[in-house]
Amino acid sequence: RADTVRLAIDSGTDGPLISRNIYGQFAEHLGRGIYGGIYVGSESSIPNTDGFRNDVIQALRELQVPLVRWPGGCFADQYHWRDGIGPRDSRPLRVNHSWGGVKEDNRFGTHEFFRFIELIGAEAYISANLGSGTIREMAEWLEYMTAATDSAVARERRGNGREEPWQVAFFGVGNESWGCGGNMQPEFYAHLYNQYATFLNAPEDKRPKFVASGGHSNLLNWTEVLSGNIKQNMDGISYHYYTLPTGDWDTKGSATGFGEAEWISTLVETAKMDSFLAEHIAALDRNDPDGKVGFYVDEWGTWYDEEDPDKGALHQRNTLRDAMVAAINLNYFHKYARRVHMANIAQMVNVLQAMILTDGERMVFTPTYHVFHMYRVFQDAVALPFSTSEIPEYRFADRSTAALSFSVARAKDGKIYLAVTNADPRQSHQIELTLGDRQVTSVTGKHLTAPALDAENGFGEPGAVKPSPVTLNANSAGVIEIPSRSILVVELKQ
Ligand code: AHR
Repeated sequence: RADTVRLAIDSGTDGPLISRNIYGQFAEHLGRGIYGGIYVGSESSIPNTDGFRNDVIQALRELQVPLVRWPGGCFADQYHWRDGIGPRDSRPLRVNHSWGGVKEDNRFGTHEFFRFIELIGAEAYISANLGSGTIREMAEWLEYMTAATDSAVARERRGNGREEPWQVAFFGVGNESWGCGGNMQPEFYAHLYNQYATFLNAPEDKRPKFVASGGHSNLLNWTEVLSGNIKQNMDGISYHYYTLPTGDWDTKGSATGFGEAEWISTLVETAKMDSFLAEHIAALDRNDPDGKVGFYVDEWGTWYDEEDPDKGALHQRNTLRDAMVAAINLNYFHKYARRVHMANIAQMVNVLQAMILTDGERMVFTPTYHVFHMYRVFQDAVALPFSTSEIPEYRFADRSTAALSFSVARAKDGKIYLAVTNADPRQSHQIELTLGDRQVTSVTGKHLTAPALDAENGFGEPGAVKPSPVTLNANSAGVIEIPSRSILVVELKQ
């Protein structure tokens, strides 16, 4: 057929590594993200280990979360780390000015964070306070976490029960410094970054990757200025882009109860990530031709109108549409894996495009969780280059977007996996697949879809959207049919 997409995979050439850190997550002191969602305290009736919910820990372990970014977000630039160490009862009560003016009693601090990531088997991405902190405060936090030798700060840590230093994989110097992190211009931030980074010391084997707080959307000047002006300790530039169904922050659109118009407009908005990444990375290529600096998408995901503030700030439900957004964006991150070495979906539990929603002692996996679970095989896989014939457009009303998106990689288990999304809710699409000089006639793996575009996993029906095993065989013409509104991760038999 003329509209069959020919997908030719070059099995003889290795592309870039798809860092497992692309599968990072973000956990901020916001709504019920930490308190209630992850941490309930050891006195809670909800089954827990040292205060951490057993069900959530188990679910996140299963997801193989590589990295957790904490404590914010906007909260990071109001957070003073010494508030969150020492005996819990003596920790100061603060107000979370970033998120609803709620009480922050600092029960969850540095030691609790490291215990949490140890329980789920992840690494640490600390996001430190540039906006309202001091150089000394930031430098001492890094020393507190990483110092192996004797010093007053290391003694403070040991006095609080932790003998050995921790490993900090990434260390962010401020967050959204163009906005909630201080309303700065990129030139001003670049000067500050150089100054702060001069004093950030860690033992060589404990040195984290240092992250400068970059821009968002198509704001190229932050990437230009930071990559052109920062000479000190910068391993990566952070970048944020959220998908809003309307693209308008005043009326973002609803998380559920939407129709095909909102489905396609959300996918049109999310597809902008592709061109935004291309533009930012081109700017980085100009200023850093050796490719030393990573481009870290450390906040991304869907953002809808808040349905019920009683469920906590930025709580939103999660449907098949979120699963589609997740898979398409992960495919983009694979596509740009040569620069995108890290990303964090916002956020992990109960906030924005979460993996998990909780209600008291109940917990559900969102459709987004299932995508991350299906995509685990891509963590630290080697991307394989491929070319396609023209990809058909999916059109509705006056909008259109690519119907299909792909990524291909050789996983650590030596197998070759293909991820494919078909965003078209009404029509299947055909592909013809070649691996090197061989035609692929059968693929096997997992398939995620649902009867309704806004299908979700509610507490009453937690298994409404979940992956099922799938085998797709080519017809006599070698064509494989990709079902409508589908996300597939399949192995290509060699
Ligand atoms: O993820 C929610 C918020 O979005 C973060 O705190 C902030 O960095 C961004 O604006």
